[in-house]
Amino acid sequence: MADEFIRVANEADLPPGEVMRAEAHGNELCLANIDGTVYVISNECPHASWPLDSGYLDGEEIVCPGHNMAFNIPNYVKVSPYDPGMKLYPVKVEDGGIWVGEG
Ligand code: FES
Repeated sequence: MADEFIRVANEADLPPGEVMRAEAHGNELCLANIDGTVYVISNECPHASWPLDSGYLDGEEIVCPGHNMAFNIPNYVKVSPYDPGMKLYPVKVEDGGIWVGEG
């Protein structure tokens, strides 16, 4: 089960520099295309849970609309001891689609 990948979007729907919302395995996700590499994270800001898909990318960072904090997606560093962190999901881009594993 842990290795089951679900197609959540078409590759063409997520150009570089863009984010979008998706769902897989019962989880709400935020997809981000950083310079052609697709990352999938929980769609919940580690600061106060605002949906990250309503934010925007600034380089490797996603800027949350909640309080304008920026979080580096590939190199995330916790901002406080209470920070739950940012969950990265396994992802593959195949057959024109974006596929997400359970993680
Ligand atoms: S909820 Fe995202 S910065 Fe505060």
